[in-house]
Amino acid sequence: MPLKKPKQKINFSEQLKRLDSNPELRKSILKFCRLKKGDVWIDPVKGHKIGVLDAVKKDDIQNLFEDRKTTLVINDPPYNVIVGNLNSKALSKIKTKNYINFSQKWISNALEVMGENSSLYVWMGADQNDGFQPFAEFIISMREYTELKSRSLITMRNQRGYGTQKNWMAVRQELLYYIKGNPNFNVLYTDIPKLLRGYYKNVNGKRTENIERSRSNNIRPGNVWVDIQQVFYRMEENVPGAYAQKPLKSIERIILSSSEKNDVVLDMFAHSGTTLIASEKTDRTCYCFDIDPIFAEMTIRRLEHYRKTGKSGWQWNSPFPELDKK
Ligand SMILES: C[S@@+](CC[C@H](N)C(=O)[O-])C[C@H]1O[C@@H](n2cnc3c(N)ncnc32)[C@H](O)[C@@H]1O
Repeated sequence: MPLKKPKQKINFSEQLKRLDSNPELRKSILKFCRLKKGDVWIDPVKGHKIGVLDAVKKDDIQNLFEDRKTTLVINDPPYNVIVGNLNSKALSKIKTKNYINFSQKWISNALEVMGENSSLYVWMGADQNDGFQPFAEFIISMREYTELKSRSLITMRNQRGYGTQKNWMAVRQELLYYIKGNPNFNVLYTDIPKLLRGYYKNVNGKRTENIERSRSNNIRPGNVWVDIQQVFYRMEENVPGAYAQKPLKSIERIILSSSEKNDVVLDMFAHSGTTLIASEKTDRTCYCFDIDPIFAEMTIRRLEHYRKTGKSGWQWNSPFPELDKK
């Protein structure tokens, strides 16, 4: 007799769609969101703040900060491209001019709460099918802010790309680094050992090579990051339902190099809450918000889940298990 195959239980969360563009799903999840527009949740344990706020509204940011200042802003705004052919309210393609207008509003708001010596990191996309907008216009418009100084253009390499057959495979993500005043910068090293010897130099009459002279046996990340794994559904840090999650390692790297313990780190586009988890892990206080109450809820839940289980995400399990209970 043939063995009866056990019935495979289909987990709803494995099919959790992009939450911003699925009205049915949004309606059911909104019922479980504890914050509504304008609300801020204050973490009773470490004082993180998570809100449903709008990056372009000056009052929203000022009320969040009261008298405090931030030493580090890490912003990952929507890139003005249509992700996966899906337009949504918070993620749609608008005229580049309007996109720059939107960007200038949130930059001015960020500047108001940035301390005397602070850093601003911005993830920004360049649409190769549309004249590399908005990246090109964005970097030029940043020159208007005389209090900000450009410091680095970092490229992070993704593992999965697109457009392999008729074009160079697109595997890059751009990260801009600006400073206000003269903030600290902590030198970090990757896990990649130095392999090449060379660059001989005489030091006190002795011929030395680069490895002898260097402070670490490993290489520094530099401004091309090749050692960070892009998030995919099998990774512990994966947050089902998020569509633009940055790797935790990339955000931890920024935090460790450009802030100190107990500093306030600001993220105005929280989404899956990566900056919050990275701040929690590195003993910083995170103030973050998203315009979408679903992503603010997801961010709070990710912190609670991390504290309860030690896990930085849900892998393929749902952040909203209530949805599975019929
Ligand atoms: C690219 S995602 C950020 C991804 C995030 N770094 C992560 O690792 O999860 C952009 C987020 O910005 C939010 N957003 C769009 N417009 C906004 C606005 N005006 N104010 C605040 N958040 C906004 C979207 O809802 C979306 O969740």
